[in-house]
Amino acid sequence: MSRLRTRLGNLGVSDRLGLRAPIFGFSHAVEVVAAITNAGGYGVYGATRRLPEEIEAELAWIRARVGDRPFGVDLVIPAKVPEKNDRAALEKEIPEPHRAFIEGIEAKYAVPKPSGPGMRTRFIRSEEIQDAQIAAVAASDVDLVALGIGCPPEVVATMKARGKTTVALVGQERHAAKALEAGVDLLVAQGYDAGGHTGVVGTFSLVPRIVDLAGDVPVLAAGGVSTGRHVAAALAMGAAGVWVGTAFLLTEENASHLTRGEVEALVRSQATDTVISRAESGKPFRQTRSAWSEEWAAPGAPQPLGHPLHDVLVGDILGAIEEHDVRPLAHSGAGQGIGWFDRMRPVADVMADLTAEAEAAIDRMSRAREEVPA
Ligand SMILES: Cc1cc2nc3c(=O)[nH]c(=O)nc-3n(C[C@H](O)[C@H](O)[C@H](O)COP(=O)(O)O)c2cc1C
Repeated sequence: MSRLRTRLGNLGVSDRLGLRAPIFGFSHAVEVVAAITNAGGYGVYGATRRLPEEIEAELAWIRARVGDRPFGVDLVIPAKVPEKNDRAALEKEIPEPHRAFIEGIEAKYAVPKPSGPGMRTRFIRSEEIQDAQIAAVAASDVDLVALGIGCPPEVVATMKARGKTTVALVGQERHAAKALEAGVDLLVAQGYDAGGHTGVVGTFSLVPRIVDLAGDVPVLAAGGVSTGRHVAAALAMGAAGVWVGTAFLLTEENASHLTRGEVEALVRSQATDTVISRAESGKPFRQTRSAWSEEWAAPGAPQPLGHPLHDVLVGDILGAIEEHDVRPLAHSGAGQGIGWFDRMRPVADVMADLTAEAEAAIDRMSRAREEVPA
């Protein structure tokens, strides 16, 4: 067995821990996270929509399956959120035309009522909840803590004091400068291609700039990494590894977290079938194109609200679309790389392909340089 060696050795991610390739995989499914780590990568659990007690139990679930191997957790901590987890207070701020627009969509597509609040309304992103999530993560034995949006220095300090590797996702140089100032151990330079919340700078334009800025701090390349050739290209750009989300969506371990409509959307989508829309959360979010994104982009549609107010507006209807798998509104967060994936596979197969193809690409590159007589 071979192994791709990079500067990640600096992070104490040693051979003993079984990191065979510098591939970090982000997922909202605990099953996927455990499988990535057990396949020799570094699984990271997206826990930002989970309650503190759920986070505690889910991190313990993953630990029980990966043993000593490393895994991480990701939280999104935007700077300006309400103090309290108080939905009623925010409901009062929602403009009437926005409510009418959502009612119009419910009627047009016959969306049944959800059985409870949706993922974005089961709690309000607030200081109260964020503090409790941070406390749950700090108290856990998770190895790495990634901060998706926002990088508060005090959170970085808390996690480092607990011996955890700290990571910030950045989409621009100024975000990277702030994260470095906060003292993170690792940066993820996430380009425009990426699924989920994403920025405006393309991965190729972003990664080498962040590498130059980061100095001794290793950088992972994210956004569009779908094949081993992308992994090799990331290393060629100076990255110490990659951070991947979309490639793990159509996996057997993620299947129970997707509706049929979501699977079909993912299977048929090419890069051009993804769109960036603020309709999901109020912030730009790349997803498969659907009647949901189209309705919000149509002439006369209201502008999405700010975050987290938009969550309150759309949380329940998004939950209902998912619960009842309402077509053609069904959609999924996904990056432009989704075009590479058209069937369910085990996580271990995705990891094996990424690793083997990266090694082959690196071999090809090292043979490409020819000595010529002076
Ligand atoms: C469905 C989906 C949801 C995501 N949610 C989050 C999130 O909650 N927090 C976060 O830091 N990143 C999130 N991301 C972004 C990933 O962490 C990662 O940066 C991105 O998927 C990399 O680009 P790729 O999708 O082209 O692989 C999400 C990505 C996807 C596809």
